[in-house]
Amino acid sequence: MNSRQNPPATPILTTRLPAVGTTVFTRMSTLAAEHGAVNLGQGFPDFACEPKLVDMVAEAMRAGFNQYPMMTGAPVLRQAIVAKIAAHYGHLYDANAEITVTAGATQALTTAILCAVHPGDEVIVIEPAYDSYLPAIELAGGVAVRVQMEVGASGYSVPWDKVQAAVNGNTRMIVINTPHNPTGTVLRAADMEALADIVRGSNVLILSDEVYEHMVYDGQRHESICRYPELAARSFVVSSFGKTYHVTGWKIGYVAAPAALMVEFRKVHQYNVFSINTPTQHGIASYMADPAPYQELPAFYQRKRDIFRNGLQGSRFELLPADGTYFQCVRYGAISDMPEAQFAEWLTTEVKVAAIPVSAFYQQGKESGIVRFCFAKKDDTLALALQRLASI
Ligand SMILES: Cc1ncc(COP(=O)(O)O)c(C=O)c1O
Repeated sequence: MNSRQNPPATPILTTRLPAVGTTVFTRMSTLAAEHGAVNLGQGFPDFACEPKLVDMVAEAMRAGFNQYPMMTGAPVLRQAIVAKIAAHYGHLYDANAEITVTAGATQALTTAILCAVHPGDEVIVIEPAYDSYLPAIELAGGVAVRVQMEVGASGYSVPWDKVQAAVNGNTRMIVINTPHNPTGTVLRAADMEALADIVRGSNVLILSDEVYEHMVYDGQRHESICRYPELAARSFVVSSFGKTYHVTGWKIGYVAAPAALMVEFRKVHQYNVFSINTPTQHGIASYMADPAPYQELPAFYQRKRDIFRNGLQGSRFELLPADGTYFQCVRYGAISDMPEAQFAEWLTTEVKVAAIPVSAFYQQGKESGIVRFCFAKKDDTLALALQRLASI
């Protein structure tokens, strides 16, 4: 029988995620490649990590660290993470019971949601939001309750009164992200105090996405949940080595949480990935002995942010504040009244610089006339992009 003419039937699947299609990041990157555009869309560096880090991972492989590590992560790496959090934020986690190494932050976020959220539980998500939160909530059978950030002349802020109003007896979790993708907003002490006031005395958990923890500028400090014992006692705190060490393709991160939460996290983690590749864990643990790479990161990225912002001064783009992350949001109302996705496509195909529409970070695609650029790029890449953007 010719199987091309009469192929065997594949059973039909009912999707678990009806709203999910190709992401805007994939679409814009494809479009950027097709049109020879400078890709300031997707958030990853176009420069290499320090060669020393690669050497340390290679050394770990040669030293024989090539078999399954512990399910929770290599002890040396968990200890290095504990030491870093203690030195930066003054909170001492237990390396055995309260830290788990994950396959990037994405897996940590999804696992935290899957282990904590039961069908019908509500999870408050602040929009615009990183795109993995909502599908994870849906897979868990939870209900996402969306609260939108406000955007004014001084940039985006979280309306805590609206978050407070969204909390009820079904609320299981609030997801926060600081520094924030896509807006570059950095939560301040007053934000953390407002959050503490909302959850005090409740059973609400916090999932704190802090993957850009080392990218905070102008002498401000990162207000990690770990600085607030009252909040840390009810929180999963997530970070990513990919972001911190310029190795997004390694997909390695971690979660820190009180032991009682971590027990449940590990039950899901164990049967989802079990463990993360061994040599990378050992290589990163050795590299972390020197705090310089993450201590120097704010200055490194602040310089790139300033090159990018200075290059757009005098252009028809209006710059929003960029206090953290490696993203710069701009208003383009003086150039066009196109919807954001259409404007981003036009920028990519005609101006040959790819950007991401901020509307893509809202479940229902709110239009604000704002697009996001990523400035984690070589100076030459930024210069070429700026030359094109300034000419509009
Ligand atoms: C806010 C936020 N959280 C999580 C992630 C995912 O991090 P990882 O690559 O470590 O999974 C990203 C990556 O872009 C992000 O921007």
